[in-house]
Amino acid sequence: MKSANKTVLITGGCHGIGYAAAIKFLNEGANVVILDLDPQDVQRAVADLEEYQGEIDGIAADVTDKSLVEEAVEFTIDRFGSLDILINNAGITADAQVLKMEEAQWDNVIDVNLKGVFLMTQVAASRMKEQKSGVILNASSVVSLYGNFGQTNYVAAKSGINGMTKTWAKELGRYNIRVNAVAPGFVKTDMVKDMPQEVVSMMKEKSVLHDIGDPEDVANAYFFLASEEARFVTGTVLSVDGGLTI
Ligand SMILES: NC(=O)c1ccc[n+]([C@@H]2O[C@H](COP(=O)([O-])OP(=O)(O)OC[C@H]3O[C@@H](n4cnc5c(N)ncnc54)[C@H](O)[C@@H]3O)[C@@H](O)[C@H]2O)c1
Repeated sequence: MKSANKTVLITGGCHGIGYAAAIKFLNEGANVVILDLDPQDVQRAVADLEEYQGEIDGIAADVTDKSLVEEAVEFTIDRFGSLDILINNAGITADAQVLKMEEAQWDNVIDVNLKGVFLMTQVAASRMKEQKSGVILNASSVVSLYGNFGQTNYVAAKSGINGMTKTWAKELGRYNIRVNAVAPGFVKTDMVKDMPQEVVSMMKEKSVLHDIGDPEDVANAYFFLASEEARFVTGTVLSVDGGLTI
């Protein structure tokens, strides 16, 4: 990909997969803005990311708040002159079996993982439409395709993301905007750090590569889907799961 001069906005960019994606795009010479919840966390991450090749900046915002989303998109365009690639990567879990799930657990996960992606996309895509180009990438999950015990809210959101990805690919293609999703399997980040060791071992066993993913594996998939090499790829949900689901 010719990343130099491309501007990438990554939600949830302070940790895990989003942080790895920031490094990947910076190493390729892109301008990167990371968006995350906590201002100090953003400041720390931006300072740590200064050492890479591209230009880095950051903004504290909650993807569920439309005015902050608008501010973040404007900040990115003011800072670097365009918004070429949006990575809707921020996500949370709040697990419980359906009979025990609190309404707040449902609402929080749907708000961040589904509404946040809708808001970010709506605001960013209207600017990409003016530019007549853009790439939007969404973080789905393997559980969107197969369900998962204890994750009614998360599965609903991630399945919704798959549907939105295909819908937006159809709606926005005429403006030269491609929209794709990645569906990671089990990836070593804070999100899964409390998972019991026997579950991790079981995941490794089930994967045909007998491994679990690194954040960089998903970052590389984002990078490919954002690149010119993927210019004819839109509306797809790319599994990045070591064959966990085949
Ligand atoms: N780790 C996995 O195994 C796995 C598997 C499948 C899918 N995913 C998806 O990949 C994405 C990244 O996951 P991760 O494992 O790197 O997670 P993570 O918990 O390490 O990082 C998520 C980031 O999102 C930020 N965030 C949370 N709520 C936010 C909000 N309202 N506004 C802005 N930022 C917010 C967090 O502060 C954090 O920096 C998520 O969408 C997740 O659902 C992860």
